[in-house]
Amino acid sequence: MAKVLIIGAGGVGTVVAHKVARVPQVFTDILLASRTKTKCDAIAQALGGNKIKTAQVDADHVPQLVQLFKSFKPEIVINVALPYQDLTIMEACLETGVNYLDTASYEPPDLAKFEYKWQWAYHDRFKKAGLTAILGCGFDPGVTGVFTAYAAKHHFDEIHYLDIVDCNAGDHGKPFATNFNPEINIREVTQRGKYWEDGKWIETEPHEIHKPLNYPDIGPRESYLIYHEELESLVKNFPTLKRARFWMTFSQEYLTHLRVIQNIGMASIKPILYEGKEIVPLQFLKAVLPNPAGLGEHYSGETSIGCRIKGIRDQKERTYYIYNNCKHQDAYRETGAQAVSYTTGVPAMIGAMMFLTGKWQKAGVFNTEEFDPDPFMEQLPLHGLPWHELHGIDLEL
Ligand SMILES: NC(=O)c1ccc[n+]([C@@H]2O[C@H](COP(=O)([O-])OP(=O)(O)OC[C@H]3O[C@@H](n4cnc5c(N)ncnc54)[C@H](OP(=O)(O)O)[C@@H]3O)[C@@H](O)[C@H]2O)c1
Repeated sequence: MAKVLIIGAGGVGTVVAHKVARVPQVFTDILLASRTKTKCDAIAQALGGNKIKTAQVDADHVPQLVQLFKSFKPEIVINVALPYQDLTIMEACLETGVNYLDTASYEPPDLAKFEYKWQWAYHDRFKKAGLTAILGCGFDPGVTGVFTAYAAKHHFDEIHYLDIVDCNAGDHGKPFATNFNPEINIREVTQRGKYWEDGKWIETEPHEIHKPLNYPDIGPRESYLIYHEELESLVKNFPTLKRARFWMTFSQEYLTHLRVIQNIGMASIKPILYEGKEIVPLQFLKAVLPNPAGLGEHYSGETSIGCRIKGIRDQKERTYYIYNNCKHQDAYRETGAQAVSYTTGVPAMIGAMMFLTGKWQKAGVFNTEEFDPDPFMEQLPLHGLPWHELHGIDLEL
């Protein structure tokens, strides 16, 4: 008997709600809460059969969260609202004795910079309270950490080079749209590039380093080195890494739109006065861009995300590539959401399941690679994300 509270009713929240409702043997009581209750109600209605309850909450306010947690008494909260809400939800968890899981690291609204330092600072308090917090349990971050831990456990004595490769070879039919929350997405992809090499971080201009990489069942796609949050925890948790990088594909069309958006000031997070009212240009842009949760119906193609690793086993150099491909239309048929939401929501559900079944339980704040990868890897294909391994191949990197 386990009660789970999901916070956030966007694209990812839709998938988490569908997936959690399909595992009643683990999740016996489900509450979906978000800022706009009608969105929760629409998801509950699509699921049918009174499978989940809904509630309204403003997760920026700890007292509101505390009240909700005290009345529903969840064992774990799955936070799939925005990164801005991570700390308030963690505070409310500590105040009410609830365990925590999210898919994106905290960023302050007025500073486009994601770092784990704010959430790692909660470690001692969670430990003292005997509570578990699982950070970044989507696909990337999330499964990429589990893939790396699995590789380190089963295939290498030491891992030396890690390249996380994220390809979306899908077509949503719109001139420009983001695959998850536009504000968070644009803040992420317009940052300076950064990677780890020989014990230090190296910064690049945004999108300065790029090259075509071949993705399974997709073929070559231009891939851009960007900074991504899991690099921070992975280099800490795998100190044998000599280099760790993250690559993401972007189409020329996407990059051209992005450049224009930046050039005309619409990517700015600094408030401006518009007709006597303060607005943030990027938040205004979000309001006019397509809603990522609604892209699924006409989305064709697939995503391919994986880890390319080089290291040593029995004193010999080895190469290894582990990945998942996910088709947008398969995700849409099952949940009404596209593959980017799907590949995030499924691991969030599995992470909560790992906690509730006692496989990932330790007091404190942890990233996914700090748990045993095996039980998680077993569940991935059972819930729609099969994974594949290639050994001894040219990693192209
Ligand atoms: N790890 C990964 O692989 C990965 C990949 C993609 C996304 N993500 C993360 O997943 C999260 C959700 O993404 P998404 O695409 O589903 O975003 P989304 O469609 O914008 O949904 C966000 C939801 O959070 C709700 N929300 C926002 N502020 C809130 C508040 N103060 N209180 C309560 N609810 C609030 C929104 O409510 P309204 O409907 O009222 O706006 C919306 O329902 C983001 O943090 C994103 O960074 C992770």
